[in-house]
Amino acid sequence: MPLRKAEFIGSFPKLSLAPDTGKPEYAFIGRSNVGKSSLLNALANQKNLAKTSSRPGKTQMLNYFLMDDGWYLVDLPGYGFAKVSKPMREKLQKLIHTYVAKRTSLIQLFVLLDCRHEPQRIDLEFMEWLGENGIPFAMVFTKADKISKVQWQKNFAVYRKAMLKTWESLPPVFLTSSETGQGAEELLEYIEATNQRLAELP
Ligand code: GTP
Ligand code: MG
Repeated sequence: MPLRKAEFIGSFPKLSLAPDTGKPEYAFIGRSNVGKSSLLNALANQKNLAKTSSRPGKTQMLNYFLMDDGWYLVDLPGYGFAKVSKPMREKLQKLIHTYVAKRTSLIQLFVLLDCRHEPQRIDLEFMEWLGENGIPFAMVFTKADKISKVQWQKNFAVYRKAMLKTWESLPPVFLTSSETGQGAEELLEYIEATNQRLAELP
């Protein structure tokens, strides 16, 4: 089902300032420019709900969005962007790591990966770190409109092989495009099903 409502709640530079929501929370994470903010907009079917830019490093805070009055989606800053200053990079790194490790209402992370690229060490290492810390995540490949289906199948085969070197099995995988809306419905359905399961817990 498409989202009925998507509302920007606020931008928070520190985890301690993030709202005490008591609602399930999901977050988009991944390298700068991979398309986190764009995908959030695609899910919400709004062009400018989250700010996007062709210049990496646009998102620098924890940006909270309330979806259908029932769950939160957090647009995080990108990791691994070399062109911001070193102190800024370290600050963003710390913000991301604190958020991921400490946010108790975080149900699951979506690690966004550019479907055109070979597996990058920074992404593989980040996912390993999630595994070591027991943080559930799904892989969301972005920018599907930029390659052919055949190329995607080739790229994914390489990715799967790289993941299976350290993982027993792959987490859930989605292929998306913010340009065409591909994958948005699947992602929303997945989140809604997860929310449903949470609501049914005793
Ligand atoms: P940071 O906030 O810097 O970490 O980046 P981000 O991951 O939020 O990326 P953002 O959504 O700002 O998108 C970066 C660039 O990629 C923009 O120029 C977008 O228009 C473009 N882009 C994002 N998603 C897609 C997509 O699915 N297809 C195409 N063709 N371009 C996309
Ligand atoms: Mg962004």
